[in-house]
Amino acid sequence: MAHSFPPSCLSLSFLVVLILLFEIIRNVKAADILDDVCPKTINPQLCFHVLKNDPYVYKGDIHSLVSISLSVAQDNTTSTYNLVKSLLQQPIKDPNLKAQLTNCLNNYKDAGDKLESCSNLFRTDDYREINLLASAAFNDSRACDQGFGEPPAQLKQLSQTVQEFSDLVSVIAYDLK
Ligand SMILES: *[C@@H]1O[C@H](CO)[C@@H](O)[C@H](O)[C@H]1NC(C)=O
Ligand SMILES: *[C@@H]1O[C@H](CO)[C@@H](O)[C@H](O)[C@H]1NC(C)=O
Repeated sequence: MAHSFPPSCLSLSFLVVLILLFEIIRNVKAADILDDVCPKTINPQLCFHVLKNDPYVYKGDIHSLVSISLSVAQDNTTSTYNLVKSLLQQPIKDPNLKAQLTNCLNNYKDAGDKLESCSNLFRTDDYREINLLASAAFNDSRACDQGFGEPPAQLKQLSQTVQEFSDLVSVIAYDLK
């Protein structure tokens, strides 16, 4: 008679195989969702860079991707607002620079309000409005950059992240609406 494994051992190895399979499928799905969405945005590299290791993105769920992207946009909008505010608190001799920074502070206040509204609109799945508001927040951030000949380096980097993730939110919302 052939040697047979005790049943508990068999079901254990079956479980291990199942878990491995599940992990593989999960990873493939995660790669798919970013491969599908990131190239549609203005800065695909930044999209992949920030999201590829996010544990929630791994679920391959488009709704979680949009809410994570929104929180990245919101966090960086808040940081940009605070940065501009701190720049304005320093003595500034150049009146043009002061005016640009003041405009910029208003742009980021507006962007923050719009992204906040987006986060409330998730409850009603109003993707049409989310698409519009995220795109408007993108425009606010770009308006800040365009006010300068060359934006301060720190500001430029934060602005890029805000623009990429606002764009990402609007791209996904456009697909979902
Ligand atoms: C921008 O957002 C990312 C993701 O939320 C966060 O890790 C990073 O700290 C933020 N940067 C700033 C300066 O807020
Ligand atoms: C953002 O700016 C673009 C280009 O100027 C414009 O076509 C678009 O309508 C603006 N989006 C919103 C929501 O204001």
